[in-house]
Amino acid sequence: MITDRLARALDDRLRLSPITRRALAKVFPDHWSFMLGEIALYSFVALILTGVYLTFFFDASSGDRVYRGGYAPLDGTTTSAAYASVVRLSWDVRAGLLIRQAHHWAAVVFVAAIVLHLSRIFFTGAFRRPRELNWLIGVTMLTLALANGFTGYSMPDDLLSGLGLRILTSVVESVPLVGTWLVSLGLGGEFPSDEMIPRLFITHVLLVPALLVALVSLHLTILVRQKHSQFRGPGRTEHNVVGSRLWPSYALRSLALFSWVLAVLFALGGLVQINPVWLYGPFAPAQSTSPAQPDWYVAWGDGALRLFPPWEFRIAGYLVPAPFFPGVVLGGLTFLALYAWPFAERLRTRDRRPHHLLDRPRDHPVRLSVGVAALTFYAVLVVAAGDDIIARLLRLPVYDVLAVLRVLLFVLPVLAGALAFLVARALRRNDAAGIGGLTRA
Ligand code: HEM
Repeated sequence: MITDRLARALDDRLRLSPITRRALAKVFPDHWSFMLGEIALYSFVALILTGVYLTFFFDASSGDRVYRGGYAPLDGTTTSAAYASVVRLSWDVRAGLLIRQAHHWAAVVFVAAIVLHLSRIFFTGAFRRPRELNWLIGVTMLTLALANGFTGYSMPDDLLSGLGLRILTSVVESVPLVGTWLVSLGLGGEFPSDEMIPRLFITHVLLVPALLVALVSLHLTILVRQKHSQFRGPGRTEHNVVGSRLWPSYALRSLALFSWVLAVLFALGGLVQINPVWLYGPFAPAQSTSPAQPDWYVAWGDGALRLFPPWEFRIAGYLVPAPFFPGVVLGGLTFLALYAWPFAERLRTRDRRPHHLLDRPRDHPVRLSVGVAALTFYAVLVVAAGDDIIARLLRLPVYDVLAVLRVLLFVLPVLAGALAFLVARALRRNDAAGIGGLTRA
């Protein structure tokens, strides 16, 4: 057969068969939670495929353009070229709205899958020696994914995205001494600058995706070198991996997952509206939309800004405005804590051994309770980003909603963390299969 001849010709020249045979025999654990990372990977592929299509039509410029097209309320109005091109993409380009919305949904699912994957790694202790490097790479990829989501929905230059950029520039400006300098370095002038959209574009379609591709490749290479970790079970030891071989069973299963991810993203893109920029209107510095919510993955930052009281300080004569604490300090501490966790845990437990068998979350009540408390804290912040919607739904003054959320922000994580600790300890002592078994015991 022609394929056999081709394979043999390649093998003669490149000696690929030993590497390929070893790669195809690689064993993958069968647990479902290992698929979360794959969902993230496949959403990223979907982002690249749909993103390339968008670049054919998106005009990365803040210069004036008259919109002429199928969306009658804007027909004949002058807006930025970026905004006009996104309205054109949504209303006038064949399959434009489908691809745009699939791209946006892919971003939403991408970050959700990364966060779930990271939580799985955290709660099962998969970050312990020798996998600390992959944990650090994973946290960096999360940071880059958040950054690219933000730059992505800032590019259409609509009223909502302009508001988001305005908020981010205020946070950066709040850094004492260097804040305003950093903003003009990044934007090439004061907000809103003419350079803003072209720079966002290059960052969004080139710099961050290239970094992500490099890091994903490194992440997977390290994974192959170190082999998968696995849950305890019959026949599983620190020195083997029990599961399915890459070829044929795992590859086919993974291909099916890829098809599912694409199917779900395109179904969402075709059926569920997201970011209807034509309804928001073009960005104008003196206007804002209401209600105004960002995508869920940056909502924790928005929630923190809404909850933090308007306190300002002067340090050595320099004003430290309110956004500095919920924006710069909280954001910085969040990622610092994520980067530092494997090393902080090692310092506490003094456990320097390599681990290839995973913990069950209950095996480590302290880690479980810290993780649950942290997730609860950020969940309250995400909810706080919808304070205006909650106030409207409950017919309450928004200040009352804020006051309740401020209390919940401190009380709920402590309660959730304590509950997780007690349940984990009880499960461990009773050696129960699950919480149901614990109640019976
Ligand atoms: C980590 C990967 C990525 C994330 C998280 C992401 C996210 C986003 C988001 C949320 C938007 C706003 C979509 C909207 O208008 O509703 C967007 C827009 C856009 N993205 Fe991406 N994206 C990623 C990668 C890419 C890549 C690789 C390309 C191109 C090669 C690309 C090209 C574009 C273009 C041209 C737009 C503007 C058009 C528009 O807003 O409709 N993106 N992106």
